[in-house]
Amino acid sequence: MMDKIGDSVKYIQQFINDEPIAGIILGSGLGNFTNEILIEHEIPYGDIPHFPVSTVEGHSGKLIYGVLGGKKILAMAGRFHYYEGYSTQDIIFPVRVMKALGIKTLLLSNAAGGTNPDFKVGDLMIITDHISFFTPNPLIGKNISELGTRFPDMTEPYKKDLIVKAQTIAATAGFDIKHGVYISVTGPTFETRAEYQLVKILGADAVGMSTVQEVIAAVHMGLPVFAVSVITDLGIREEENAITHEEVLQAAKTAEPKLTHLFKELVSQL
Ligand code: HPA
Repeated sequence: MMDKIGDSVKYIQQFINDEPIAGIILGSGLGNFTNEILIEHEIPYGDIPHFPVSTVEGHSGKLIYGVLGGKKILAMAGRFHYYEGYSTQDIIFPVRVMKALGIKTLLLSNAAGGTNPDFKVGDLMIITDHISFFTPNPLIGKNISELGTRFPDMTEPYKKDLIVKAQTIAATAGFDIKHGVYISVTGPTFETRAEYQLVKILGADAVGMSTVQEVIAAVHMGLPVFAVSVITDLGIREEENAITHEEVLQAAKTAEPKLTHLFKELVSQL
C-alpha cells in the first residue's frame, strides 16, 4: 500500500508546484463547483498509477489542482462508490494519496436523502457525526501503522472548529444551514419506506451512499474533516415518493451555489 501511494504521489507531484492545503471530494451533481477553481492542472484518474477510474453518470473522474479562495487545493471531480463494485481499499486510496501530497484538511460533499422532518429538498446539512455500521469499514485488514493506529478514536470525526466556521459563513451569506447525523448505506437501491423509517429511528438525519469510508480513512491518518450533505430528496414523505437519480442531480444543482460559497470561504479561512 505504501509503495502504491508513493507511485501515485510521485506521478502527481510532476504537475503541482506547491503543497495543497486542502483536499475536496465532490458528490453527485456538484461538478460545476470546479468552475470556481482557478485550475492549474487536471489529471484524469486513468493516468494516475493505481487510481481507480470513476464510471457513474454525473461524475467526470479527474483530479484537479488549482487555487480556490486564494489557497492551493486538490479537488476530486468524481469519487468511487462501493455500489460501483470498487473495494473499500480503492474508495479510500485517493484520500491517502492526497494526505501524502500534503493536504491538511479534507472537505467532502454528497447528495443524501433527508429523514429529518425539518429538512426540505435543496437544504445543506453540515454532517456533525455519522453511523457507518451498514457499510464495510475500510480499515478492516492489516493495519498500516505508517498511516495510523489500529483502533482510531472516532469521537470527533468532523472537526468542531470547522463546523463553527461553516455556520458563521452561512449566517453571514444569509442562507439557512442544517446540521445532523449521516448514515451510510451501500446502495445502489434507494431505501424502502421501512428503511427510511429505520434510518430515522436510528438517529440519523440523512442517508447516502458515500463519504463515510473516506472520512474513516482520513481520521485514521489524523486528517481534519468537514463534510456537507445536499438534501436531494426526502425519504419520509407519506405521499407518492419515487426517487430518481435525475431528481437527485437536479436538486444538487439547485443547492450548488450555496455549497460553492461555503467551501470557497472555508478554504480561504484555512
Ligand atoms: N438515499 C441514499 N442515497 C441517496 C439518497 C437517498 O435517499 N439521495 C441521494 N443519495
